[in-house]
Amino acid sequence: MFNHLFSAIYQFMTRNISSHGAGPTVVVIILTCFVVLAAVQYPLVFPWLQSFFPPGSSALGVQPGSQTASPLAHIHDMQKIEFGDGSNRQRARLRVLKQLIKTKGWERDTSHPRRRLLAALMGFLEYREKMEEGVQRKRSGWAKLSVRQKEFMSTVPYAEKLEKTSALIRENDILAHKIIDYGLSYYDLTFTELLSFRSAHKNDTRPVSDHTSVVQSLKHIIRDWSTSGSHERDVTFPQILTTLKKFYPDAAGRGNKKILVPGAGLGRLSYEIAAMGFETIANEYSFYQSLAHLWMISIPNSTPRDSFTLYPFINWWSHQRTTASLLRGVVFPDTLLSPPALERLSLIDGDFTTAFYAEFGTYDVVVTLFFIDTARNIVDYLDKIHAVLKPGGVWINLGPLLYGTGPWVEPSLNEVLAIAERVGFELVPTEEKWGADTFVDVEQWRGKVRGAFAGYSWDQDSLSRNAYQAQFWVATKKM
Ligand SMILES: C[S@@+](CC[C@H](N)C(=O)[O-])C[C@H]1O[C@@H](n2cnc3c(N)ncnc32)[C@H](O)[C@@H]1O
Repeated sequence: MFNHLFSAIYQFMTRNISSHGAGPTVVVIILTCFVVLAAVQYPLVFPWLQSFFPPGSSALGVQPGSQTASPLAHIHDMQKIEFGDGSNRQRARLRVLKQLIKTKGWERDTSHPRRRLLAALMGFLEYREKMEEGVQRKRSGWAKLSVRQKEFMSTVPYAEKLEKTSALIRENDILAHKIIDYGLSYYDLTFTELLSFRSAHKNDTRPVSDHTSVVQSLKHIIRDWSTSGSHERDVTFPQILTTLKKFYPDAAGRGNKKILVPGAGLGRLSYEIAAMGFETIANEYSFYQSLAHLWMISIPNSTPRDSFTLYPFINWWSHQRTTASLLRGVVFPDTLLSPPALERLSLIDGDFTTAFYAEFGTYDVVVTLFFIDTARNIVDYLDKIHAVLKPGGVWINLGPLLYGTGPWVEPSLNEVLAIAERVGFELVPTEEKWGADTFVDVEQWRGKVRGAFAGYSWDQDSLSRNAYQAQFWVATKKM
């Protein structure tokens, strides 16, 4: 509950003390606040103080975890948690809280969920600093120009652009802190733990946090939750949602159908599926994505649409037609979230290939959007998608074949399909309107696999394009 205050004080200190200097009085006030808050966090030192702030209350009147906060979150003996209780959302949260428990050597284990989560939170915490380093490099580059060249450049307000970028970084940093605050609350961590993790790892030779992942996950807000990103959703969501509707036309019966969305990113597709009435499980490995996803869906639906502004393009000065487009803000969220839909939506953190062993044969549908090519071992993905489905279950895929770092195997699309059939899938015909027939020349797949132009985190004002001929298919698990 004090994460907000710690975080606010931290932000205040980093902003005012580091950049502008502060009088001794301000420093004394801030340190006093820290001592008081620390005392409240550690009631053993000042037990009487805690009585003013019972667990679950919020000194700011805003409880980041209010939609998800559960009294169980404060049970530290996780053995006592009954996983059969509560909503799916609550169970999913308790499941990750259990995984976050400190085990021997967790701090050195880069795959331990607690360490991965703290690393992601640290990434958001360092957003401003890392971004500023980039601006500083640009300032230094500019300073290297000769007086004559600077004179030429004086025709454009380049110095002003640098200053404006710094100002917008500070705006984005406010959002980064909202994500941190909510994440700490959801995952039952404290800001003090985050700060001590940061000081323990600040000077590691290999950085523990990935700044690019922070930037990407902020940018993903646009793809998933803004009107500006609707051009990406409009060419990918309809075929998926229409297919679900076709298989399950009776809206009333959808509540009993379990849909799994691995690699859910910031969760818009999962949310839309839940909004159709399905029990939807979003799965995501990256805490960078999950943190932003969780904050997004925590925004109360009393908050008007487009209440927040992100400046997503300031990190990438290439391909900008105008400075105005580089500096422009994008408003979000474009929709008010429906509480019943949120009740049907849960997030399971973790690696898709290992997170669902206990749920083999239990899902009605698996939806993979821009996901299967993230695999190091795509055969394992196909096998696990098949394994989690019920007999007769449906797999809906849409996405490119852009293999990432270090894949073990890189089959071409025809090979992916052949392997999928061998694993036990049967492709079904898809409608012409979803794109050009990719295998018009292969009888067995003719009319089943369709390619359509789809962007991914694509800035429509940019002079470059990041888009794919994304492949759509629907397959059923053979009985
Ligand atoms: C290309 S992104 C697509 C995200 C989202 N489906 C969309 O279309 O916006 C792939 C996502 O899969 C996640 N991911 C990669 N490997 C994963 C795994 N083994 N288990 C779960 N998620 C994974 C990544 O973190 C990333 O968020």
